[in-house]
Amino acid sequence: MPSDKVTKARSNFSDRNPASRKYYDEARKFLPGGHTRTVLTHAPFPLVFISGAGATLTDADGHLYIDLLGDYTAGLLGHSERRVIDAVTTALNTNVSVGGIHPAEARLGRLMCERFGLDRVRFTNSGTEANLMAITTAMQATGRKRLMVFHGGYHGGILYFATGAAPSNAPYDFIIAPYNDTAKALTMINDNATSLAAIIIEPMLGSGGCVPADANFAQEVFSAARRVGAVVIADEVMTSRHGPRGMFNLLGAQADITTFGKYIGGGFSFGAFGGRADLLDQYDTSPEANRDKVISHAGTFNNNIATMTAGCAVLGEVFTADVAIAHTARGDDFRKSVAAVIARHKLPVSVSGFGSMISLHALAFAPNTSEDVAKRDNNLQELLFFGLLERGVYTAARGMMNLGLAHTDDQLAQALDALDDTLTAISSK
Ligand SMILES: Cc1ncc(COP(=O)(O)O)c(C=O)c1O
Repeated sequence: MPSDKVTKARSNFSDRNPASRKYYDEARKFLPGGHTRTVLTHAPFPLVFISGAGATLTDADGHLYIDLLGDYTAGLLGHSERRVIDAVTTALNTNVSVGGIHPAEARLGRLMCERFGLDRVRFTNSGTEANLMAITTAMQATGRKRLMVFHGGYHGGILYFATGAAPSNAPYDFIIAPYNDTAKALTMINDNATSLAAIIIEPMLGSGGCVPADANFAQEVFSAARRVGAVVIADEVMTSRHGPRGMFNLLGAQADITTFGKYIGGGFSFGAFGGRADLLDQYDTSPEANRDKVISHAGTFNNNIATMTAGCAVLGEVFTADVAIAHTARGDDFRKSVAAVIARHKLPVSVSGFGSMISLHALAFAPNTSEDVAKRDNNLQELLFFGLLERGVYTAARGMMNLGLAHTDDQLAQALDALDDTLTAISSK
């Protein structure tokens, strides 16, 4: 049940946003829930955005926001990255869609392999699809079916483990281990030694509340999985932005297959899975390979021109390894500033995350597991969200904030002031 303060905050939000409300009421006639992305849902209705520039968004009622959500990490570049927009415009003026090969596909393949230390890579249309294909790769290679996942993990709308396995998940044989609990995870790996095809794991529970893995936990789980012949699938769909090679690299843990998505497509649909040649070469259909058994992986838009071109500009020009290293450090600094603001107040609020991915929690301590995240005060969490919105800062309703390349120092200072002001207002009510 929402508290009186939350009810009031929702009603203020409705009063401030009549144009978004009108759009939402109309959209609901055709789209169940008014849109097709469950994550965007919040009461009373989500905002409708009309335009974006740099690190700002303007909604249907004319409010300007600092975009601190960055489209759940897909919007790393901000809204006006000319190098990507120009490259895609030029490419689309030449050819929109080709039922064949075009040069940008292998160019992006090379950029990804060199950047992330992959032998081979294949493209998909989303992170979900990349994970499904990585699972297929592991099951075909091992001849096994069981998959170990982690409580609080998210690998796509049908690979969702926030509170155990969601009933709507794809029908795999999952076992769910606790995150950041090395002893229990190792026991489960050993107990399933002969049936485990793969473990699939995020280096930080992203959707699950920006809870980073302990380095030791990651390293031990990876080694134990390998000992029993299971494939280690690292889901870096969100976290490949950290450091020069993604987050598991910074934790000193090397996966067999890594999955990617989000920002690498520069705003276009993107997914990829890549890693060890012996696993990926199961897809090698070339006459030279002359394989008895090949896994089929079709997909009309796997190599679409817009995404492939955008990806080349993102990794080749905009978000190089050096930029990624600097951005991770900037994110760490910003998170420390957020913590300093929170420390000025006597509210049970904390911050967690890694690099440029951050989450606010209505919780007295920074969570270390998804069970901790589940203890948040939902009313306080919602007041934080509406408080920031009222002060011109757009974040995820669940508290996620992602620092992008377009944020200026002034905008970050304004966001910190908005947080300070929100916490003051909540304390004094
Ligand atoms: C860690 C992780 N894996 C996979 C996905 C699914 O990616 P997509 O939404 O592109 O299907 C997401 C999306 O949020 C994610 O955060």
